[in-house]
Amino acid sequence: MTPAIKIAPSILSADFGALAKEVEEVTAAGADYIHVDVMDGHFVPNLTIGPVVVEAVRRSTHLPLDVHLMMTEPSRYLDAFAQAGADVIGIHVEVEGDIGAMLDRIHELGKKACITLNPETPASAIEHLLDRVDQVLVMSVNPGFGGQKFLPLVYGKIEQLRNTVDARGLKVDIEVDGGISEDNASQVAAAGANVLVAGAAIFGHPDRKTRVDLLRQRASAGRRHA
Ligand code: DX5
Ligand code: ZN
Repeated sequence: MTPAIKIAPSILSADFGALAKEVEEVTAAGADYIHVDVMDGHFVPNLTIGPVVVEAVRRSTHLPLDVHLMMTEPSRYLDAFAQAGADVIGIHVEVEGDIGAMLDRIHELGKKACITLNPETPASAIEHLLDRVDQVLVMSVNPGFGGQKFLPLVYGKIEQLRNTVDARGLKVDIEVDGGISEDNASQVAAAGANVLVAGAAIFGHPDRKTRVDLLRQRASAGRRHA
């Protein structure tokens, strides 16, 4: 059975000049996580946030910080992000190095481990890791920028991963990230996703509570075996 729906606003689309206020607003709006996009200008073309900013966000909310590392060498920074206040740390399966060891390190640091895959990466690339993670992040856009269009090719992958997780009796959240809106929230939940990241769909509108509620409502309506 698909776990309860969680809404994770991505601060990439927030006003960085008023970041504390933005984070406080979505916290008050009933968000479940704060999603933080870390980009190194190498794994993806864009450059964004480091541990100092995570530390600042940590002071603005009691919500778990879901830190998505879009970095070529995440192993060098796991300790720093953990120390800065990350609760969930996600690494991409496409990076080089010992992915299993990185996931173990995240657990050693007392944090939840998330394995992330790009739209073109098949589910089979992470299936052997499912019993070593707390969350899988399925990218529904090519990572790098907020406000892109959702790629429907990921529905099948979400479904496949949810079926595998359930068949093995694992407790793994399936998160979807990129182009999520009220138009596809129900369908991604129906496919088996239960954590919805949303940047533009939340921060692009002045009333954050209405947006968070709408996404949760749509996703809950679509939720499998609800
Ligand atoms: C893209 C990031 C996403 C992005 C989502 O590389 O990982 O978290 O901020 O933003 P929207 O919801 O606007 O696509
Ligand atoms: Zn992200």
